[in-house]
Amino acid sequence: MYILLVHAPSHQLVIVDLASSMHSCQNKKTLVGRLVQHDKLTSQRENKARRVPMSNPARGYIYLHAMQLIAQHSTSISAAECLAPLLCVEAAIALLLLLVVRALLAMASSVSVLLLLCMAAVASAQLSPTFYDTSCPNALSTIKSAVTAAVKKENRMGASLLRLHFHDCFVQGCDASVLLDSGGEQGAIPNAGSLRGFNVIANIKAQVEAICKQTVSCADILAVAARDSVVALGGPSWTVPLGRRDSTSGSAALANSDLPPPFFNLSDLIGSFSNKGFSATEMVALSGAHTIGQAQCLNFRDHIYNDTNINAGFASSLKANCPRPTGNGDGNLAPLDTSTPYTFDNAYYSNLLSQKGLLHSDQELFNGGSTDNTVRNFASNKAAFSSAFAAAMVKMANLSPLTGSQGQIRLTCSKVN
Ligand code: HEM
Repeated sequence: MYILLVHAPSHQLVIVDLASSMHSCQNKKTLVGRLVQHDKLTSQRENKARRVPMSNPARGYIYLHAMQLIAQHSTSISAAECLAPLLCVEAAIALLLLLVVRALLAMASSVSVLLLLCMAAVASAQLSPTFYDTSCPNALSTIKSAVTAAVKKENRMGASLLRLHFHDCFVQGCDASVLLDSGGEQGAIPNAGSLRGFNVIANIKAQVEAICKQTVSCADILAVAARDSVVALGGPSWTVPLGRRDSTSGSAALANSDLPPPFFNLSDLIGSFSNKGFSATEMVALSGAHTIGQAQCLNFRDHIYNDTNINAGFASSLKANCPRPTGNGDGNLAPLDTSTPYTFDNAYYSNLLSQKGLLHSDQELFNGGSTDNTVRNFASNKAAFSSAFAAAMVKMANLSPLTGSQGQIRLTCSKVN
């Protein structure tokens, strides 16, 4: 009889041949002989052996030499010895029970971790760049030409579509919850009066529905449109794994808690992204999205009037269009990247080096803290930024997708079916 034994500290699995253990127990003399031998073991070896007390102490102990062998990285164990005065059969049964219980206990935590890992692997394994290759082969080209046309019509739209994807993924995963006009997510503080591009997504969805009925999810359209927007503005490209499905609800509360506001300091920002599994370097790379797009005065007013880590000339040029009193010109816009607002490049980081970050949170990335060197690196090395940004975007687009039979493929992105 073979049983599986788990050695908790080393997480090794070994097979114990109980049959040979029972066999050795059938001969009490052999057993006693072994006991004598065992008593002569050096104290060093004795310490290594695991003593397992039986329920009745008078019955002695089973010395699990198996454990010793496992510790020595053995892959198989020929015998587990039994000690008198235990009866051989009882000892074998007890040994079996003990080992099974111990194995179960030892495995309990690792099994759950393994299960989680497997589930995560399955979830991301279901996303695939070729997901629509047979079900809707023209989906990606349809999205790309619609995005290119929208960005050509209005440069800023590329930034707005990129931000939509970010605000989707950080709130209960990339499930197009941000597109639902019921449920309140669009009315959350980071989104209300600020998110744009819903009509462009609705238009793309209509075009895609016309060629493939209820096949391509709104969440996938967001992910592809974000990539195509960056490309349309001269930025890097990447392959988008596909197969996300759409949620049937959104969450204003999660939008308020999980999306970072512009008044966050560096440790807040690192914490906010680390909650989603991103390193500080990945957070800095993703923030490079602010190399395109615009922000409203209400989001940078405090920075230009109250912060000291801002270039004086830059601050005064912004003040003209963003009056100090709250409520005046709140919606007036300024580019997040003052030097090349419509080009997806690494100028955002060079701006930070000269204290020309528009948002308080932007300048926090280069303010004498732990991310200064990353900013310097991305400012001087465009290729390093491009590849870090692309990799982080793929990672972001992988946040908790609904797959398989979860959620639905919405017919209209703004409402559940
Ligand atoms: C690091 C934390 C971040 C903070 C605090 C932040 C905050 C903001 C704020 C306040 C605005 C201006 C909104 C307005 O005034 O209406 C904005 C715009 C924008 N954000 Fe972020 N953001 C962050 C990260 C990101 C990330 C990770 C992305 C994308 C990967 C992104 C993409 C954008 C884009 C493209 C715009 C311009 C949108 C437009 O012009 O329509 N942001 N962000």
